[in-house]
Amino acid sequence: MRKNIVAGNWKMNCDLSMTQTLIGDLKKELKADYNCELMIAPSHPCLYPAFNNTLDTPIEVVAQNVCEHEKGAYTGEVSIDMLQSVGVKTVIIGHSERRDIYAESDELLAAKTLAAVEKGMRVIFCCGEHLEQRKAGNHVNTVTAQIEKGLFQLDTSQMEQIVIAYEPVWAIGTGETASPEQAQEMHAEIRSFIQAKYGDMTARHTSILYGGSVKPSNAKEIFAKPDVDGGLVGGASLDAKSFLAIADAF
Ligand code: G3H
Repeated sequence: MRKNIVAGNWKMNCDLSMTQTLIGDLKKELKADYNCELMIAPSHPCLYPAFNNTLDTPIEVVAQNVCEHEKGAYTGEVSIDMLQSVGVKTVIIGHSERRDIYAESDELLAAKTLAAVEKGMRVIFCCGEHLEQRKAGNHVNTVTAQIEKGLFQLDTSQMEQIVIAYEPVWAIGTGETASPEQAQEMHAEIRSFIQAKYGDMTARHTSILYGGSVKPSNAKEIFAKPDVDGGLVGGASLDAKSFLAIADAF
């Protein structure tokens, strides 16, 4: 059956010293068992030290982005091989900050996803609508179009490497969370969209995370929804106690 996952996206917040301090705090607070996988996504320069510092924990270190090309003259980019060489097995692709601030298109995200999956990476593929799209009643169409364009090139076995993160853009870093009902509605739509393309088994096995102002105070209610399999957590993941309290919501 599909996995529950709580992933902390640290975004561009922690330098090396902060990364190691936060991992140290997480290690102090970690319980023996969680009913979910735990992931953290530090910045690229901190991936290798973070990987080494978490070897004795259940925490997986994941990357926030990757280049679609294998190697060569792509100044400033980081390849899949480079991530794998420092122990990274999972990458976040298509975060709304990449889509909106760095103008990453559906086509580019599809290329990144395919390249990562072909190299054996697990991908946390992000999707989500803006407030105007929700207000206009276009939220489901917006999100399913992102999924169709970004993922539906994959075959059924490649889909096993995909985790979806639904993050309504209006709820990211704003303190405004989608209600558990709004999250469930969209997650169910996403699952049935996957079901229509890949069948029952794939739909049932795909983890769908919710992201957008997840906190210890709202995680339990959101994670209790049947199609919500965890969270992609931004702000609250920068504090070890908050992050682990969210993981404890399962
Ligand atoms: O990747 C994480 C999301 O952007 C959510 O961020 O928890 O700060 O709203 P947030």
